[in-house]
Amino acid sequence: MNALEAIRRRRSVARLGEPGPDEEQLRQILAAAACAPDHEELRPWRFVVLLGEEKDAFGEVLVSALLHRAEEEGWSPTEGQISKERTKFNRAPVVVAFGCVPKAHKIPAHEQLLSTAAAAENALIAATALGFHSIWRTGQPAYDPVVKTALGLEQGDSIVGWLYIGTAKKAPEERAEPNLDGLVTYWRPEVPATV
Ligand SMILES: Cc1cc2nc3c(=O)[nH]c(=O)nc-3n(C[C@H](O)[C@H](O)[C@H](O)COP(=O)(O)O)c2cc1C
Repeated sequence: MNALEAIRRRRSVARLGEPGPDEEQLRQILAAAACAPDHEELRPWRFVVLLGEEKDAFGEVLVSALLHRAEEEGWSPTEGQISKERTKFNRAPVVVAFGCVPKAHKIPAHEQLLSTAAAAENALIAATALGFHSIWRTGQPAYDPVVKTALGLEQGDSIVGWLYIGTAKKAPEERAEPNLDGLVTYWRPEVPATV
């Protein structure tokens, strides 16, 4: 599949089953991520892979984070909310957290964050090219201090998202031709006013 085809074919799928990428396929997906544009080669990206039992165990981190947030905000989560949090990562065989650890540098942290987002998109396109389906999610855990710590990130670092990768039970609908109305202009110098 060529790059344009993979870009056009990528559709987000909420629930993904087996097969997920194997070790070599995941390496290719993350290598594609590491080909993202990276101003001054700062490599601000951190890819934290969650698989199998470790992915299940991370559900307990998500529950702790939820309980902590709820306590701080003065409310109590229901059993249903706790269970949803615990099993969130069961929505795909492979989940990868895309973290950004910005370096103190003349290149602003903002650009390093953009580079991490570009890395995530590269990964989604690579997963599509390899025949998998995926979805980029964030949600409150992506901004949660407990979760950041569990991933080995500092509080000033960012989680740009969780990439869920696997296989859709039912192939997603093809994307309609993108509508560029209002998105594109061709700049021209203004004609100077005649005096
Ligand atoms: C930064 C970011 C965060 C997102 N977070 C979520 C999310 O938490 N849950 C969700 O269902 N979709 C989320 N989305 C949207 C989906 O990834 C997806 O792009 C959207 O549903 C459109 O579907 P498509 O990718 O097939 O065009 C997020 C997208 C981005 C770029």
